[in-house]
Amino acid sequence: MALLEVNNLNVRFQTPEGWVTAVNGISFALDKGQTLGIVGESGSGKSQAVLAMMGLLAINGEASGEVRFDGQDLLSMASANLNTIRGNRVAMIFQDPMTSLNPYLTVERQMTEVLEFHRGMSRQQARLRSIQALDAVKIPEASKRIGMYPHEFSGGMRQRVMIAMALLCEPDVLIADEPTTALDVTVQAQIIALMRDLQRDFGTAIIMITHDLGVVAGLCDQVMVLYGGRVMEQADADAIFYRPTHPYTVGLLGAVPRLDHGERALVAIPGAPPNMARLPAGCPFSERCTLVEPRCVSTRPNLSPVVGRPEVLRACHQSAVAVEAYARELSL
Ligand SMILES: Nc1ncnc2c1ncn2[C@@H]1O[C@H](COP(=O)(O)OP(=O)(O)OP(=O)(O)O)[C@@H](O)[C@H]1O
Ligand SMILES: [Mg+2]
Repeated sequence: MALLEVNNLNVRFQTPEGWVTAVNGISFALDKGQTLGIVGESGSGKSQAVLAMMGLLAINGEASGEVRFDGQDLLSMASANLNTIRGNRVAMIFQDPMTSLNPYLTVERQMTEVLEFHRGMSRQQARLRSIQALDAVKIPEASKRIGMYPHEFSGGMRQRVMIAMALLCEPDVLIADEPTTALDVTVQAQIIALMRDLQRDFGTAIIMITHDLGVVAGLCDQVMVLYGGRVMEQADADAIFYRPTHPYTVGLLGAVPRLDHGERALVAIPGAPPNMARLPAGCPFSERCTLVEPRCVSTRPNLSPVVGRPEVLRACHQSAVAVEAYARELSL
């Protein structure tokens, strides 16, 4: 049994225009020490998928399916039980640092509170453990800075404080929702390196959400590519990078600078992500796809294994061979 197993997760929201489905039937399994990357443009359903797993959807949202952590279904669990797992065995770094940091409390107060609640530590024990955690994410002079307020830290340091908080209880699963988007490239690289260390040292399983496939390289074992709330392609990271079989994956790769292809121009995907309330009847990506055919507009392709490569799942009417040829044409 995997540490975390998600089966057919759906998320929908009640809106003035009716129910809008933001996440449609995603499934994956994650073992100890493994990393899953969830990739897609803005609005593709990345955050809502993981918020649903944590029981943190907005009031008008509804999740269905199964989210098995250590054998127990988080979606059907009573909130008192969920509170003992959340922030403790499954922790999250939120997209917006100020969602998880309280501006009116010192970092010390916020960190010690978590340990007092989940681990029953005394304030003094909790303080020492918190300083260790800040040290681990390379906050200089942690014992002094722990007394500061969130706004007294720079953006990069604040992100580290959030990571330290998420790691306080040494979670089995760490969910990181775009933890580096707001940061400059050097700090981004440091934070990714930090996450890789954590995984090596503690066997933490990680779900890494990003719109940037470049961030996924070198960190993730598996990758799930989302578009319009649906999985376009799902496979191990090497397959996604070196033999993509979905035109959307090819499009995302075209927008990533690669050091080993100095010659290639960066290509943006034309058009904009879809309105979730008015998705096309066929493939959600059909409106922007270079390889589109009439059947793509009328009939939605199912997610199914590629012939001869059962570990690669894709939802596309075009043959994998045709898409691979297209990727070569772009010299990806
Ligand atoms: N409370 C809500 N009510 C209605 N629709 C919502 C609500 N919250 C999110 N949505 C919709 O769900 C869809 C998916 O949103 P989500 O936040 O998961 O996107 P994302 O992939 O994380 O994007 P980004 O990269 O911008 O963070 C969006 O179309 C969004 O408008
Ligand atoms: Mg998001």
